[in-house]
Amino acid sequence: MEKFLVQGSGPLNGEIRIGGAKNSALKLMAASLLAEGSTSLNNVPEITDVAIMMELLEAMGVRVQRVGQRIEIDVPDEIEPVAPYSLVERMRASIVVLGPLLSRIGRAKVALPGGDDFGSRPIDMHLQGLEQLGAEFSYEHGDINGRADQLVGAEVFLEFPSVGATENLLMAAVLADGTTVIENAAREPEISDLANFLSKMGAVIEGIGTSRLTIEGVPALHPVSYEVIPDRIEAATYLAALGVCGGELRLIGARSDHMEMLLRKLEEMGMEWSEDEDGLTARVLERLQSVDVSTLPYPGLATDYKPFLVAALCVSQGAGMVTENIFAGRFRYIDELVRMGAEIRAEGRHAVVRGVKRLSGAPVRAHDIRAGAALVVAALAADGETVISDAHHVDRGYEDLAGKLSSVGAQVTRI
Ligand code: UD1
Repeated sequence: MEKFLVQGSGPLNGEIRIGGAKNSALKLMAASLLAEGSTSLNNVPEITDVAIMMELLEAMGVRVQRVGQRIEIDVPDEIEPVAPYSLVERMRASIVVLGPLLSRIGRAKVALPGGDDFGSRPIDMHLQGLEQLGAEFSYEHGDINGRADQLVGAEVFLEFPSVGATENLLMAAVLADGTTVIENAAREPEISDLANFLSKMGAVIEGIGTSRLTIEGVPALHPVSYEVIPDRIEAATYLAALGVCGGELRLIGARSDHMEMLLRKLEEMGMEWSEDEDGLTARVLERLQSVDVSTLPYPGLATDYKPFLVAALCVSQGAGMVTENIFAGRFRYIDELVRMGAEIRAEGRHAVVRGVKRLSGAPVRAHDIRAGAALVVAALAADGETVISDAHHVDRGYEDLAGKLSSVGAQVTRI
């Protein structure tokens, strides 16, 4: 079992290169199913979730090859439209193959994802939206069986701007007959990246980056080469590490226009930052000030940032109220932070974090990707040594977290 070994660390200084966005790369890989031929994706991080999506495509008969940060996806004419439980169980984002399979093949058998560490995560909006485009679903032995002779454009109003539902509907609509309008669509930068990728493939999409996407179905798409946007959540992780350690970091490739709300929060806490064409430079000279944090759909503060912000609040001056509005059950790592001496009271969707000067190194456990990374951040602000078990969760979303942090002066190793 792999673990992170972290020692409390002093100021961080230097450069970190930000990898491609996990949450975009996975969807672009699924979208490649929409066109026969060779798709080339650049800036794809070497992380477990991408490896699982590669396995999933291969299980359908697609040839996938990695060359450094590029992956080549060769989609044959005939594919087996099945996503088995063994893979969906390891990565629930596998559900995004449903839209492309139904629109290109007219059939899909995808295992139901079940629950996870965030609590219950239904996919009702994905299915209802696809039904509005003419898909029919039946359920058997834990699988969803979807059929659609020809999807037909429709107006779909999402009850909540769900990222996954927006993506599935977008990928279904691009080959549907006629016009689809997705109202109350999610607006995350990764969705715009998917829409830009689809447009390059020949899709006709209006309103990219807004909450109303209008898609004019086309008969076929063609494969393209495309570069994935940088991972704003990875960038946020290093900004939080800087927040608790102090110093100056240059994040090569990071884009402020994808993380405006986060940068505002960090500024409020006392971080300074500037941007040039290569990325962001951030500086922390004093102990951060506490702020209140409330997660919301984009452009609000992402729920994925919250564990890092909580870690930073643990050692900031004052107290901050944290409210989770996206995933009800996303507070488990708090018990681990409390083991490290954090002063946190959590109830329901809320937590109050009272900053202490230093945390205290302890053995703790990573429950999911972001929670694991947040424990690494917290451990940098702890006296002595912290051992974080179940490090494999972190590998799902980070390429060499320990190596990147060590390169700027943090004491983090893998054992
Ligand atoms: C994606 C991201 C995840 C991020 C989340 C919110 C990927 C692989 N994952 O997850 O990292 O934290 O967006 O920004 O891109 N919901 C329903 N019914 C549905 C769909 C969603 O009730 O059919 C609910 C969910 O339970 C949750 C909320 O809507 O409470 C938001 O979920 P959603 O935006 O769909 O998140 P994901 O796409 O699963």
